Amino acid sequence: MASFSTLFFFLLFLIFFNFNNINLSLAHSKHSKTTIVYHSFSHSFPLISARLSQHASKTSFISSLASSRTKKQRQENANNEKAVKPPPPSSSYNYKSSFNYSMALIVALPIGTPPQNQQMVLDTGSQLSWIQCNKRMSPRKPPPPTTFDPSLSSSFSLLPCTNPMCKPRIPDFSLPTSCDQNRLCHYSYFYADGTLAEGNLVREKFTFSSSQSTPPLILGCAMNSTENKGILGMNMGRLSFASQINLQKFSYCVPIRQAQVNNKLPTGGFYLGHNPSSDSFQYINLLTFPESQRMPNFDPLAYTVGLVGIRIGPKKLNISESIFRPDAGGSGQTMIDSGTQYTFLVEEAYNKVREEVVRLAGPKLKKGYVYGGSLDMCFDGNPMEIGRLIGDMVLEFEKGVEILINKERIMDDVGNGVHCLGIGRSQSLGVASNIIGNFHQQNVWVEFDLANRRVGFGKADCSKSL
Ligand SMILES: *[C@@H]1O[C@H](CO)[C@@H](O)[C@H](O)[C@H]1NC(C)=O
Ligand SMILES: *[C@@H]1O[C@H](CO)[C@@H](O)[C@H](O)[C@H]1NC(C)=O
Ligand SMILES: *[C@@H]1O[C@H](CO)[C@@H](O)[C@H](O)[C@H]1NC(C)=O
Repeated sequence: MASFSTLFFFLLFLIFFNFNNINLSLAHSKHSKTTIVYHSFSHSFPLISARLSQHASKTSFISSLASSRTKKQRQENANNEKAVKPPPPSSSYNYKSSFNYSMALIVALPIGTPPQNQQMVLDTGSQLSWIQCNKRMSPRKPPPPTTFDPSLSSSFSLLPCTNPMCKPRIPDFSLPTSCDQNRLCHYSYFYADGTLAEGNLVREKFTFSSSQSTPPLILGCAMNSTENKGILGMNMGRLSFASQINLQKFSYCVPIRQAQVNNKLPTGGFYLGHNPSSDSFQYINLLTFPESQRMPNFDPLAYTVGLVGIRIGPKKLNISESIFRPDAGGSGQTMIDSGTQYTFLVEEAYNKVREEVVRLAGPKLKKGYVYGGSLDMCFDGNPMEIGRLIGDMVLEFEKGVEILINKERIMDDVGNGVHCLGIGRSQSLGVASNIIGNFHQQNVWVEFDLANRRVGFGKADCSKSL
């Protein structure tokens, strides 16, 4: 479990930064490499929405390199946002599935012809999707059976170097690509722990049923990573899975992690297209900001929402709404991210939360303890007792929409009898944004209504959501 968690941490990291252009040239490498540093934390505890409906958001990661992005790269990113609008409407997809929830949302999607089920992390914080392809390099060690075997698919093709997508760092797709010996488009990047992930850009179909399949989509085909899961990139970039199939909406319902029985991961629901429960959802608009208010820290491809306040117990914390909005430099944006495990707040907001937690349960705080480099409100002992001292927590959004996190679930079990509040400082991840992670999206339907540029939340028992 520990190594799984570590991998995810870095995986998510990778993804996020990848699209935010962190590029390093490494002396030992022929290619330009992107370093991705993403952090995501593991953990989960549910949120429950209090009033009308709920919502959640996810996001994640952090990169210690975030601040090293160059101005030019940021500019490219911003310029490219124009490319974000999906192509004209074509077919509409309807597909429903379940996913396993640990620190991430793991869907299994049918890819190729005939379809091979591939496990992928559903990530609303990143753009490029990729799958784990069979590694051909070491014939003596067979690849894990769960990886994708291109030779078994009639719809698989490799992207040649001549494809425009293969130009190094085209805007809004800042994957460092290069031409390999076979004149194929090759990409590579490093995880924060120094692990290299690399592969080819390919085209492949998703085949949902005999009557429903996508055209061939651009994906990464990872040839030598240690992970056995891919990524389903679902942000607003034009190369995300959602954009490439011109998806109108998608939704997921994150189950309570504690509900784990018989060592099986809890299962949540996932819809591409219409969700039959959506009548009860409460919606808030996705926010956009003028370019003048974005540089250098704003991510224009993220799902940005209007968080307006935080309550702990009956008390509304004294945090100005402006803290949750991007400032002149684009810092302070609030995103919903399925690929980030915990919630991260900028300094001013975090300090107010911590102050209140210290006021309510200070003597029980585990002094000097920090989990995963980010969570520093941790306790020994009975989490229910601590939860009662602290009370329910509520994330308040525009239009009176709220996410309620019950006191019983305000803390996550991080092992060894220690429980931590699922909130950390954005700074600990090296990011300047507020990120609402999947820990705070439990037992809520979260719908990304792309066609109407809004996000909906609906209270649910996610273990029974499909
Ligand atoms: C969830 O995990 C189980 C094994 O515990 C596996 O059989 C199933 O295919 C997984 N589902 C997804 C969506 O990954
Ligand atoms: C991937 O390949 C590179 C060399 O091309 C190697 O240094 C690295 O260790 C490999 N990574 C894995 C996970 O196999
Ligand atoms: C709220 O915070 C602001 C600045 O952080 C401070 O000036 C103000 O006095 C605070 N108000 C209350 C009621 O504590």
